[in-house]
Amino acid sequence: MSATQDNKQQDTNGKVAVVTGASSGIGEATAKALAAAGFRVVLGARRVERLEAVAEEIRAAGGQAGVVKLDVTSDADVAALAAAEPRVDVLVNNAGGAKGMESIEGAVEEKWRWMYEVNVLGTLRVTRALLPALKAAQGIVLTVGSIAGRQVYVGGAGYNAAKHGERALVEVLRQEVAADGIRVTEIDPGRVHTDFSLVRFDGDEAKAAAVYDGVESLTAGDIADIIVFAATLPHRVNIDFLQVTPIDQVGGAKPKK
Ligand SMILES: NC(=O)c1ccc[n+]([C@@H]2O[C@H](COP(=O)([O-])OP(=O)(O)OC[C@H]3O[C@@H](n4cnc5c(N)ncnc54)[C@H](OP(=O)(O)O)[C@@H]3O)[C@@H](O)[C@H]2O)c1
Repeated sequence: MSATQDNKQQDTNGKVAVVTGASSGIGEATAKALAAAGFRVVLGARRVERLEAVAEEIRAAGGQAGVVKLDVTSDADVAALAAAEPRVDVLVNNAGGAKGMESIEGAVEEKWRWMYEVNVLGTLRVTRALLPALKAAQGIVLTVGSIAGRQVYVGGAGYNAAKHGERALVEVLRQEVAADGIRVTEIDPGRVHTDFSLVRFDGDEAKAAAVYDGVESLTAGDIADIIVFAATLPHRVNIDFLQVTPIDQVGGAKPKK
């Protein structure tokens, strides 16, 4: 018998995956990939019409998808999600992002608060609310952190602080719920071409495009595939974290432009 013979991916039949921030980018791609892998997916974000369009695409491809209006900064929205979904096998904490690139001298507190609210407290709220269901299902919590939660850069302090904070939450969570049989994994991407920079620069398309100009970026689908892989590993296998960058960003190297 081969040593890897029992290493097959988990059966997803009847299992439920909740994805926050599923209206664009990594979350959208992850919802589609989890549905293609057999999960019934629950898509959450503020822009419900975009969620409906993604869910429609999933159903057209033969998958199962439901939509929930979810602002992760709203206790009421999070409570409604938990009430509507008594079964949760996979939680993907993906909702998040950055606002601005001001230096610390020019820091805008409102932007720092937004980043902390969404990336840290948003992840806390949704995770806490779904933990009873995740315990019952012996599920997995996958959080989309960032290399910004491991390295710092000039102009990044607010986002660096938020993603470092989110990572601290995830690392404590892993220790607290392992005994309940819940796996906890963080995926830390480098540069991924999504609406991330458009949001960061308040809709300034030229500034956002410059981030990806002349360099190689990951696609949202690259991260989605990794999330599906980690989610469907046998229950005994816990990946603590995976740092994933485009080849020209390896080791924090400055890309050649
Ligand atoms: N792109 C990158 O280079 C990169 C690198 C490392 C990590 N990340 C992380 O990856 C995650 C996804 O970002 P992305 O790159 O896919 O960017 P994106 O395309 O801008 O997606 C961000 C998602 O977060 C959702 N969101 C924002 N605020 C929310 C709130 N209050 N409640 C619920 N959902 C909210 C957005 O949906 P609504 O606006 O509809 O609510 C959207 O679906 C983020 O956590 C980001 O920090 C991105």
